[in-house]
Amino acid sequence: MTDRDETNIVKNPARRKLLSSGLIAGGAAALGGVFSKSAIAAAPDPLITEIQDWNRYLGDGVDAAPYGVPSEHENDTIRRNVAWLTADEKASINFTPLHRLDGIITPNGVCFERHHGGKAVINPADHRLMINGLVDTPLVFTMEDLKRFPRTNRAYFLECAANGGMEWKGSQLNGCQFTHGMIHNVMYTGVLLKDILAEAGVKSSAKWILPEGADASHMSRSIPLEKAMDDCMIAFAMNGEALREEQGYPLRIVVPGWEGNMWIKWLRRIEVGDKPWHHREETSKYTDLLKSGKSRRFTWEMDVKSIITNPSPQAPITHGKGQTVLTGLAWSGFGKIKRVDISLDGGRNWQPARIDGPSWDKSLHRFYFDFDWDGSELFLQSRAIDEDGNVQPTKNELRAARGGNSIYHNNGIQTWHLRPDGSAENVEIS
Ligand code: MTE
Ligand code: CO
Repeated sequence: MTDRDETNIVKNPARRKLLSSGLIAGGAAALGGVFSKSAIAAAPDPLITEIQDWNRYLGDGVDAAPYGVPSEHENDTIRRNVAWLTADEKASINFTPLHRLDGIITPNGVCFERHHGGKAVINPADHRLMINGLVDTPLVFTMEDLKRFPRTNRAYFLECAANGGMEWKGSQLNGCQFTHGMIHNVMYTGVLLKDILAEAGVKSSAKWILPEGADASHMSRSIPLEKAMDDCMIAFAMNGEALREEQGYPLRIVVPGWEGNMWIKWLRRIEVGDKPWHHREETSKYTDLLKSGKSRRFTWEMDVKSIITNPSPQAPITHGKGQTVLTGLAWSGFGKIKRVDISLDGGRNWQPARIDGPSWDKSLHRFYFDFDWDGSELFLQSRAIDEDGNVQPTKNELRAARGGNSIYHNNGIQTWHLRPDGSAENVEIS
């Protein structure tokens, strides 16, 4: 805005008045009378009729923030941890604020973090990726070397196998950030792992790979070669910019649809072998303890799942009854989401939600359910169905199948109790 524009607006109250009455008429017509209050209010709204500070004064120039950050009014859109969950924040987790986001892409600054030995800080010039084991030629790549391979761009969700683990025995944490926030969904740029492995030449006896991190936990996980050759990526960028340090800068492996713990960050080595390596964590991580005392092993795919993000305990309805947008996320480690159903009465009746935005393999899907809330209490649930026909189970169905001892792979249907005052609470319906 120039100085002259500024003066014009301030000195021309007549024009201002005209503009505001125009807005009023236009607003009411466009909305078709759906919204009862505000637009045709008798008392003039000073936010429409009066000059505000942000109209009056010049704002910051272009270089005020060389790297931009969200408005201060969005300062609730932050990762949060739950202090009692882990003994130490270096081997801990925080959660994505799902209730503050829309669409399907998680902004880089709020992707949940899970570190076993704290965040490694690495100068990319000093970073190396070694490929060794059952290969014709063991190789070491610099970041520059890796960026000379053909690139690919793909959006995938990453979900920690323990997402929702605290909810196995009953509803516990009051907010989708805490019950479902060990997930993020970003657009990765990188190279296909199969191209890197081909460069080294994988021997015919090879069946497994072992990616290893350069962080203090030296975390490593066994991955079947078949998966490595299918859709695994070596990623150096997320959402158009370099990986964040929290997410493994400068390099991480992407293992689409599979447990988050396999997505090794700060990736420095991939060993090729003919059998899985047995790690202490691995025997527990890939295993779900069943009621019978036996366990399920090698449960890598993340099951079909969904969550209503709004309304939810951290995001109550504040506008009162009437036209309401319910929204949430659905995903499946087996591919695309085909359908999401919504229940307002705790699972007795179901209606289809509207999936909007891209429907990509092993990526978050955004759904909306637009309804007229009569102001009565509701028991909100969402149920996802993927393209393979997998249906998200109720929590009781899940417990009947797996018992109560597991903490991994909880994809049970979540219930929010919406009260007449618009607040919501995490509950279970039996
Ligand atoms: N890789 C390394 N090197 N060190 C780690 O602690 N944590 C794993 C995985 N990769 C981890 C790692 C776990 S358990 C998960 S759920 C994901 O990274 C979390 O990825 P994020 O921090 O990008 O959310
Ligand atoms: Co994890």
